[in-house]
Amino acid sequence: MPSARRIARVCMINGPNLNLLGSREPEIYGRTTLDQIHQQLIQQGKELGLEVESFQSNHEGAIVDRIQKAAEDCDALIINPAAYTHTSVAIRDALAALAIPVVEIHLSNLARREAFRQRSLVTEVVSGHISGFGADGYRLALEAVSLMLRS
Ligand code: DQA
Repeated sequence: MPSARRIARVCMINGPNLNLLGSREPEIYGRTTLDQIHQQLIQQGKELGLEVESFQSNHEGAIVDRIQKAAEDCDALIINPAAYTHTSVAIRDALAALAIPVVEIHLSNLARREAFRQRSLVTEVVSGHISGFGADGYRLALEAVSLMLRS
């Protein structure tokens, strides 16, 4: 952690269409909005002594840029690459270049979904992954990050 910063910063990155959480296919993704998830993580972060920042983009290159920047300004990363999970070598390569803990998270259980969603290009290059717990998965991800930062 850079010495100028007092508490560790956890950066959350969400990919395409996750700005629509709450109204998008709620039977699959639930009714919690992305802003509500962020607010919950901010609160949980206070209890864990972590600062939580949120970034969302529908654009692959913007996500790659944010991942690269995370090497300088984040101590750990929570990422839901959304549809890019299954297609983006660029996001996978950007994550592979990071030396900080990274948790991949999905609201739905990818193993129970369509065949094309069952392959993640990023799982091999992250610290661990959480899938199938809806919005609560983000809380589990922050807990996991907290444990990793302490060990
Ligand atoms: C998702 C699963 C992806 O397959 C899908 O494209 C998403 C959301 C999830 O959180 O369950 O947008 O990453």
